Amino acid sequence: MNLIVAADRNWGIGCNNALLASIPGDMKYFKEHTMDKVVVMGRRTLESMPGRRGLPKRINYVLTSDPGFEAERCIIVHSENELFDALSQYDTDDVFLIGGSSIYNRYYRMCDRLYVTKIDADLGADTFITNFDEDSDYEIVSESEPVSENGVTYRFLIYEKKQD
Ligand SMILES: NC(=O)c1ccc[n+]([C@@H]2O[C@H](COP(=O)([O-])OP(=O)(O)OC[C@H]3O[C@@H](n4cnc5c(N)ncnc54)[C@H](OP(=O)(O)O)[C@@H]3O)[C@@H](O)[C@H]2O)c1
Repeated sequence: MNLIVAADRNWGIGCNNALLASIPGDMKYFKEHTMDKVVVMGRRTLESMPGRRGLPKRINYVLTSDPGFEAERCIIVHSENELFDALSQYDTDDVFLIGGSSIYNRYYRMCDRLYVTKIDADLGADTFITNFDEDSDYEIVSESEPVSENGVTYRFLIYEKKQD
């Protein structure tokens, strides 16, 4: 399983249930990696998306405890067990956790690969994820050159779980 996230230098990922910055290059990177794949998100992340709809051309799973919850283009699941039973039908390389913090923090250790767009700024987040640099089970295997866009500088990092 994979995870894909954009985080600022404090590992902040959002504020007021929205993203911290609009970065076209990161949107493109996200789309390239998740297109035709399976994406998994929490209910709050879905509600932060345009039209409160699942992403096009992807299989969207949304976790919520609300038994009556519905959303266009989404498969709704109500528990961890229901989620992972459903995901067992896919190749794990095709599954991406796409947020938010409740999903990233609870399940990142189940991921072999973490795609992190690391923004070199403090963007005043109210929502944070684990500092992957402090998890000795993961190492950076790829790091792009810095890119500057819309007043922010960022790099694409890939972390992989270390082999035993
Ligand atoms: N920077 C990025 O790459 C990125 C990506 C995605 C999101 N974000 C940001 O992250 C923030 C949202 O994160 P968040 O942590 O507040 O919300 P979230 O993880 O998107 O959603 C939380 C909700 O998911 C449901 N949920 C989670 N685990 C569950 C479980 N085991 N069983 C049943 N339901 C479960 C619950 O919904 P119910 O309350 O309905 O039960 C919970 O309230 C926003 O600011 C968003 O913009 C950033």
